[in-house]
Parts: sequence; structure tokens; C-alpha cells
Amino acid sequence: MVHPIKVLVTSQKGGVGKSSIAANLSAYMARVASRKTCLLDFDPHGSSSAWMKQAPNVGVVVNHNPLPVSLGKKRSLLDGRAQLRRAATASDVVIADLTWNDATDAELLFDFDAVLIPVSLSAIEIAATVHFVHGMHWVFDSRIRKAPALILCPTRVEDPTGIKEAFTSKTFPIRFLLAPPISADRAVREAFGKRFLVDMQGSAAESFAYFAAAVQETLDGLAKANIANPKRASIDTLQRQFGPSAVLSNFNIARSTHSFSQSRQEVGNQLGRPQLQ
Ligand SMILES: Nc1ncnc2c1ncn2[C@@H]1O[C@H](COP(=O)(O)OP(=O)(O)OP(=O)(O)O)[C@@H](O)[C@H]1O
Ligand SMILES: [Mg+2]
Repeated sequence: MVHPIKVLVTSQKGGVGKSSIAANLSAYMARVASRKTCLLDFDPHGSSSAWMKQAPNVGVVVNHNPLPVSLGKKRSLLDGRAQLRRAATASDVVIADLTWNDATDAELLFDFDAVLIPVSLSAIEIAATVHFVHGMHWVFDSRIRKAPALILCPTRVEDPTGIKEAFTSKTFPIRFLLAPPISADRAVREAFGKRFLVDMQGSAAESFAYFAAAVQETLDGLAKANIANPKRASIDTLQRQFGPSAVLSNFNIARSTHSFSQSRQEVGNQLGRPQLQ
């Protein structure tokens, strides 16, 4: 692969499934997609990197380098960039796991090809995620610089019927791709830190494999678009290049016509909960 693909799994919320996605997606990329994969764990508690080391070896290179939280945004940005560049030199895919915090500079997002944000269908999590991505909309909607693709990842999903209503261009006033849902499953929780879903059977493993295949196809599309036109690869080119395919048809492209305040109102109304303050 000419252009190593760089993926960030992030959220400002704790316990939403970032490390579970980062670790399982790394295992999938290495084992199923046969990509040279590096997991870059930016989190101080290092759960995804510890997981990679404790579980049976799947051939993922693991770097645990927490980003500094007390030395200011600039330092954190420079550190993150340097680590990402280093990891990318020997990899086809780099997957970074980061809990977003006050020291994280949104400039770092431009160094990634795709940003995955796990979010459950709970009204509070969706409202918090709307708020979170809105703070970074200047990155995802940038027309001057190459914007990373924003991929919203519904996870810990009990009942997928509400997904279409929850993730619309009205609720999320930003360009995004919607990944197939990862179901809530005891097996996923029990495998945490010990094994990978690619090595398991059952509905949780199936739902994850479907998710991972869709993400892989999207990343491959981004890589091709990057080669064809390194400055202009974007969600739009991805869609033009691929057209509807079996997996990508599970991604919805959304372009907002709504303002953020309308969106907050609608999230509150739709989900029947108080709005985000
Ligand atoms: N699809 C799922 N089904 C059931 N449990 C899940 C699922 N995904 C994650 N979990 C569980 O939720 C908890 C939090 O997951 P995880 O550590 O991946 O989240 P995180 O966002 O990385 O958390 P932190 O903010 O602490 O880094 C773990 O106990 C994990 O096993
Ligand atoms: Mg984590």
C-alpha cells in the first residue's frame, strides 16, 4: 500500500468502546485483511495496548505512548504527530486509541484519514457526541485542507431500529459516514483484554466482522482516492469512486442543511430527553 492509512478512534466520553474497537479492528486488519497494522495507544491507562499484549498474538505492532495532558495543546499535538509519522513508516494501517481531553488539539485530526467515534444509542451519549463533533466541524467540513472522514460507529446497540432516526443530517449537522452497528453483547465484554472477536463465533463476532469489513472497504476507498489525488481525497470522492456497494450501502452520507442549535433541539425532541446544556 502506497499511502499508510491512519485511523483515530476517539471520544471525549469514557467507557464508550474506543479501546474495544481499536483492539478488535487492529486484530481484524492484521488477521483477516492481512495488513501490516500498528496500534498506537495514546491513552494513559493503556487498555488497548495491554489487550494486544495479553491476547494471543495476531501480529499487530503495539506502541503505548500516552500524549502529555499537562504541557499544553501544542506539545500534545507535536508528540502525537511525531508518533503517528513514526508508526506509519512501517505499516499499512495505523489505528490510534485516544480519549479526547482538554489538551488535545483538533489540528491533530488533519493527520488522520478517518476518525471513528463510537457512540451508543442512549440519548445522553448521542447529545454529547453531537456537541463533541460540532466543536470540530471546521475540520470535517474543511474545503481548504484534506478533511479526515468522520465515521460514526453505533456500538453497544441493544436494538438497532432507532439508528436511522438517531443519526441523520439533522441530528448531526456535519458530513459523516454511519458504520453498521456493533451489538451489545456479553461476549464482547467478557473478551475485553483477553481475546479478539475475529477469533470468536456467534452473533457478537458476526456483527463486529460486518462492521470491520465496512470500515476496511471505506479505508481502502480512501487510500485509492489518496493515490489518485493526494490533496482532495474526501468522503465525496470516496462515494463517487465506489458508488453503492454491498457493504458501503450501509453507510449513509449526510450533508447538513441544519444549524447546530436546530440540531440540539431536534436531538432533544426526537429522543424524548432533556437537551444538552
Ligand atoms: N459491543 C459491546 N458489548 C458489550 N460490552 C461492550 C461492548 N463494547 C465495549 N463494551 C464494554 O464496555 C466497557 C468499556 O469499553 P472500552 O474500554 O472499550 O471503552 P473506552 O471508551 O475505551 O473506555 P475508556 O474511556 O475507559 O478508555 C468495557 O467493559 C467493554 O468490555
Ligand atoms: Mg479505552
